[in-house]
Amino acid sequence: ASDEEVVGTVKDQLAKLFEESLRVTVPDQTDTDPLIAACNPRFGDYQCNNAMSLWTKIKGTGSAFTGPQPVGQAIMTNLPRSEMIESCSIAGPGFVNVKLSRQWIAKSIQKMLIKGIETWSPKLRVKRAVVDFSSPNIAKEMHVGHLRSTIIGDTLARMLEFSNVEVLRRNHVGDWGTQFGMLIEFLFEKFPNMEVVSDQAIGDLEAFYKASKQRFDSDPGFKERAQQAVVSLQGGQEKYRKAWSQICEISRKGYEKVYQRLGIVLEEKGESFYNPYIPGVLEELAKKGLIEESEGARVIFIEGKKYPFIVVKSDGGFNYASTDLTALWYRLNEEKAEWMIYVTDVGQREHFEMLFTAAKRAGWLPPGDNSYPKANHVGFGLVLGEDGKRFRTRSTEVVKLVDLLDEAKSRCKAALVERGKAEQWTEEELEQTAEAVGYGAVKYADLKNNRLTNYTFNFDQMLNDQGNTAVYLLYAHARICSIIRKSGKDVEELKKTGALVLEHPNERALGLHLLQFAEIVEEACTNLLPNVLCEYLYNLSGHFTTFYTNCQLRIMVNLVVNVLWGQRRRQADSCCVKRLQRSCGNAFIY
Ligand code: ARG
Repeated sequence: ASDEEVVGTVKDQLAKLFEESLRVTVPDQTDTDPLIAACNPRFGDYQCNNAMSLWTKIKGTGSAFTGPQPVGQAIMTNLPRSEMIESCSIAGPGFVNVKLSRQWIAKSIQKMLIKGIETWSPKLRVKRAVVDFSSPNIAKEMHVGHLRSTIIGDTLARMLEFSNVEVLRRNHVGDWGTQFGMLIEFLFEKFPNMEVVSDQAIGDLEAFYKASKQRFDSDPGFKERAQQAVVSLQGGQEKYRKAWSQICEISRKGYEKVYQRLGIVLEEKGESFYNPYIPGVLEELAKKGLIEESEGARVIFIEGKKYPFIVVKSDGGFNYASTDLTALWYRLNEEKAEWMIYVTDVGQREHFEMLFTAAKRAGWLPPGDNSYPKANHVGFGLVLGEDGKRFRTRSTEVVKLVDLLDEAKSRCKAALVERGKAEQWTEEELEQTAEAVGYGAVKYADLKNNRLTNYTFNFDQMLNDQGNTAVYLLYAHARICSIIRKSGKDVEELKKTGALVLEHPNERALGLHLLQFAEIVEEACTNLLPNVLCEYLYNLSGHFTTFYTNCQLRIMVNLVVNVLWGQRRRQADSCCVKRLQRSCGNAFIY
C-alpha cells in the first residue's frame, strides 16, 4: 500500500481526532501527543489518557481548568464530530472513554476487505531493519536451538514487513571460525587430489566434523597443521579458499532444504563476509580510544562487566566479537539500517550487551534504548524434553531439526489416514496437508509462548486439535473456508456488494477484534514478541467460534476469512490444500 493509502490502526485514527481536540483544549501545549489505549470493555473500546498529565503541566499557570476531570471533560467536548464514535464518557480523573460505532466498524471492515488489510498496517518509526536470525554454524547440523531462532526471526521479519519496514533478512552463518583449519586439513588428508570432493564423497558433514575433531584432539602433528591451515585460509591462499568454499557449499545445501520446508527466505552474509572490514573498524575504535591492551589481547573494557570484550585474540586472530562489531558497523553505515535485531538463545545476552555498549561508546548508537538507530537482542529460552532437561534424543545427541520436521509430518499423515483421508484425497493432497499441519504445529508451539521462557517439546500437545495449537486454528480456518464454498457465492463479489451488519454483540466483538489486527502487530513489533500475535489469533478463533455458535450465519463469515487472507489470497492458488499449507507455514501473521 502506498503511503497515502495507509489509514493506520484504529488507535492511529482515534489519535487524529484527539489531536484536534487537544489543539483546541490546550492551544499552548503544542507538543502533546494523544495517549490512546484499549480500555476495559465495560466502559468502552478505547480511552484517551491525556487529562492527568496535562493537568500536571498546566496547573498553577493561570489556566482556567480546576482539575484533571474538567480537562478530560473539555477534551471530550472538543472532539470533532466523527462517524467513528458512537458515544463518549468520562471516568476517574479525566479519562475519556470511547465507544466505537457499529456502523463504522462494519464499514471499516468492508473497506479493509476491498483495499487490502495492508492499508491498516501500523506506522513504525523505521524504514529499514536488519533481522539477523537462524545463523547456524557451518559443518555442524542445525539443531533445535537454531529452529527457535529461525522461526522467531522469520516471524519478526514478517511482522515488520507487514508494517512497511524494509527488512534485510540476514543469515549470519558461522563460516570463519578456527574449526575450518581442522576441517580443511582433514579434507586434504582424505582427498589428496581434491578434485573428487563432492557432497557424496564427504557424506555426512557432521560426521566429517566429528572425525576431524577427533584427529585434531589426538594428533599434535595434525593439530599444528590445522592451525597453520587457518592462517593460510585467512591469508587468502587459493587452495585453502577452495576447500573452505566446498565445505560451506555442502552445509548450505543442507540448510536450504530446511528453509524450503519451512517457507523461509534468508540472505546469507556469514562471518567471512565481514572479515575484510575488521581492520578498518578496529582502527576507528582504536582512534576513539576504546581499545586497550590486556594480557596480549586487544580488548574493550565495559563498565559493570567482569571480563572485557576481546576484539583481537592474543595470537592476533579475530573472533566472534570483532566480527559482530564490524557487522554492526556495516549494517549501520553501508546498509543504512535503523534497527538491528539479533535472534539467538538467551545464553548470548552478555555478548550482545557488550557489543551494544561498545557501539554506544563509539557513538554509532545513541545512548539509552529509545532512540534510533537501535539494536536489540531477541533472546529465547531452551527447548526442553519431557524430563524437563535440555531436549535430546536417546543417544544424548543434539536433536536434528530435519528429524523433528519429519516426525511432525509423519504423525500428521498417520492421523489423516486414520480419519479416512487416504480414500478421499490424492497422495499429493495428503502429503501437502500433513506438511502444512505438521510444520505449522511445530512453528506455532514455539511462537505461542513468551520467547524468553523455556518450552517443552511435545508432539502430542502440539498436534492436539483442541487447545491453543496450530491445528485448532487451522480447523477454525478450514471451517470458514468450507462455509464459503458451500454458500456457492463469489467471494470477490460478496466483498463489494455484501451488506455487513453487526447487530448481535458477538458480531460486534468479532468485528472489532478483526479491526484490531494491525494494532496487535504494532505491539508485537515494538516489543519484539510474536506470542502477542499468537494470542490475538487464538482469541480471534474464540470470537469466531462464539459468533458462529450464537449468531445466524451472515455474510460476515465470508468476511472473516478475507480479512485474514486478503493479502495472500490474491496470489493464492484455488486449491484449498495449498492455502492450508500456506496458512500453516507462514501466515499466522496475515
Ligand atoms: N552462529 C551463532 C550461533 O550459532 C549465531 C550468530 C548470531 N548472530 C550474530 N550476529 N552473532 O550461536
